[in-house]
Amino acid sequence: MTALVVAMDGPSGSGKSSASRGVARALGLRYLDTGAMYRAMTWWMLEHGVDITDPAAIADRAAEPELVIAVDPDAPGITVDGVDVSAPIRTQEVTSVVSAVSAVPEVRARLVAQQRDIIGEGDIVVEGRDIGTVVAPGAPVKIYLTASPEARARRRTAELTGTTVETQQADMARRDALDSTRKADPLVMAADAVELDTTELNLEEVISEVLRLVKERT
Ligand code: DC
Repeated sequence: MTALVVAMDGPSGSGKSSASRGVARALGLRYLDTGAMYRAMTWWMLEHGVDITDPAAIADRAAEPELVIAVDPDAPGITVDGVDVSAPIRTQEVTSVVSAVSAVPEVRARLVAQQRDIIGEGDIVVEGRDIGTVVAPGAPVKIYLTASPEARARRRTAELTGTTVETQQADMARRDALDSTRKADPLVMAADAVELDTTELNLEEVISEVLRLVKERT
């Protein structure tokens, strides 16, 4: 029997992070936030003055940063070249350009390889955009979380300061368009994923629905 891998994909604000951590905790599994890895790569590019508008410049440096990511759902964190970047990767500066960095195939190839290494034998909940389609296509449980644009923007705004629901909704629409139309591993639902619309659900309801699906499929 293959060990458990729960693939949790979907756009930002769909409730992926809280739900993924909650499911990992409930089942005693590890937790991998692949978005944090794309954010850390982006932070490093900005820090090293790489021209974010130039995909070739990003590709040239993609092999350099050393990322180490924690897989404890109670203590997630990430370092790049030994620097703890858990907080700086959540800034607007990184958020506004992460789509450009994550569209570069050399960046994706490197991070997907590292993600597969970490997943290893399984017993892990993995959240991202391409987990069920590219990183772990054999995962026995694949969930695709969605929510209405308003609900997603409302959630994101509540996590941030100095922004409005309207600004967040516009920014998300722009990032969704970039993430869904890029050539390398675009955000699409896997054919065998279960779609879960979280618009009308609270966190506990989302977690218990995912736990039910895990039980049903394993
Ligand atoms: O989930 P997040 O907002 O932290 O992700 C940040 C960005 O990283 C997002 O714009 C898309 C990208 N990403 C990706 O391309 N593939 C993944 N598996 C995870 C994130």
